[in-house]
Amino acid sequence: MKLFLDTAEIDEIRAAAGWGVLSGVTTNPTLIARAGQEHEDAIREIAKIVNGPISAETITKTKDEMVAEGRRYAAWHPNVVVKVVCTPDGLGAGKVLAAEGIRINVTLCFTVNQALLAAEIGAYFISPFVGRLDDIGQEGMQVVREIVQAYRAQNIKTQVLAASLRHPVHVTEAALAGADVATIPFKVMEAMFKHPLTDLGIERFLKDYEQARAEREREAKAAAKVR
Ligand code: G3P
Repeated sequence: MKLFLDTAEIDEIRAAAGWGVLSGVTTNPTLIARAGQEHEDAIREIAKIVNGPISAETITKTKDEMVAEGRRYAAWHPNVVVKVVCTPDGLGAGKVLAAEGIRINVTLCFTVNQALLAAEIGAYFISPFVGRLDDIGQEGMQVVREIVQAYRAQNIKTQVLAASLRHPVHVTEAALAGADVATIPFKVMEAMFKHPLTDLGIERFLKDYEQARAEREREAKAAAKVR
């Protein structure tokens, strides 16, 4: 399972890329607005840092508008994946764009049937939103499991991109469910590194090493005095 960042914050993307664990980025209109940059500037900047798929979401509602928007986004950088919503207009636009060789991420997916529709238009990614289902009392990860199962049963190549992941346990569960990609907020990626035994272990290794080194130094000094 590849790890993507779900953010448009350049500092976060730069940091995660530096850790060597970042394979792509997803954005949405909320994240772009929060980052306070123009859409195009943000995507072009991200493309300079990450050599992997970068999802840019359309912000119009009709098929024709989304097609025009998608073509514009795709011209920004070859790594741009155009995100369309899972509506008849969104999928209609996605189909036109996919036929032109533009990769499509179908977003706001909450059911297996929506994922099957996305596969029909040749979507590159399907994005089931786990956290938002959890928010309304449904088990979001179950939808990821079932989409993976249905896609495997049907030999569908669309990649399952688990989205709206809110904590590290979601990431583990997405991997166990067989998701191809997990897109996560920066703070979740940071949290994935953390374990108290890792911190204690580092402290102990360094202390042991330093003690042994100091002991050897003392012994060498004592031996030199005897001579
Ligand atoms: O980018 C789409 C998705 O990951 C959003 O997550 O937390 O706003 O439901 P969230």
